[in-house]
Amino acid sequence: MKTTISKIKSMKGREKISMLTAYDCSTAKYMDEAGIDIILIGDSMGMVVLGYKNTLSVTVEDIMRHTGAVARGAGNALIVADLPANSYDSNETAALNAESLIKSGADNVKIENEPEIAKFLVENKIDVMGHVGITPQTVTDFKVQGKEKETANKIIKMAKDLEEAGCYCIVLEGIPLDLGKRITEALKVPTIGIGAGPYCDGQVLVVNDMLGLYDAFTPKFVKKYAHLAEDMKKAFKDYVKDVKEEKFPEDKHCFH
Ligand code: KIV
Repeated sequence: MKTTISKIKSMKGREKISMLTAYDCSTAKYMDEAGIDIILIGDSMGMVVLGYKNTLSVTVEDIMRHTGAVARGAGNALIVADLPANSYDSNETAALNAESLIKSGADNVKIENEPEIAKFLVENKIDVMGHVGITPQTVTDFKVQGKEKETANKIIKMAKDLEEAGCYCIVLEGIPLDLGKRITEALKVPTIGIGAGPYCDGQVLVVNDMLGLYDAFTPKFVKKYAHLAEDMKKAFKDYVKDVKEEKFPEDKHCFH
């Protein structure tokens, strides 16, 4: 059955919410079959799929194409598409771009900070997931945020403002676990943590990180559930060797 926003909201305090990023159809299909609640077409694709140094070069068109692929693979999960950097500089741009992502297959969109934009989108019937803490589209240093009282209070206020603006759920990224707990307790809507500790209402990871597929850098908060980079390297080496040594194709791979 298709996961709805009311289902996600009702899970707070009752059942943890599982969320992963995906960028292609097959991965989304397997996640869906595993029972994932939410799939995010994250602008993390800039680094883990498109080979950029950060998320800033990702375009709305990039997210649209990959959202279509994910939507064709996943029938049940709630599908959330990131509005990428510079795509929600004004209310009107945000609404136009969000509509394009929804036409591509997203159920709703995610933005970083910006409660005023979130409010405008929600008033225009576009559901919004918020994102605070480490917000890769604007932070210059990727260190844990909110360790000091002042920055912690700013993050709490931003999360509350996003809730007030109508966001149905808030991602907390890269903050101390006690701050994750405080925000989760302070909000009526669910929080989904990435590097924000166990007290959040749900957890999200970048799929390439949890599959061990992105080996440029692994943050402390990532748990690797597979080591696909190693498997791929071995498979490619074995294939090259087989071709060179004329061990592939065998007769069973040939048409007669
Ligand atoms: O782009 C992304 O993958 C994200 C997650 C880290 C939440 O925003």
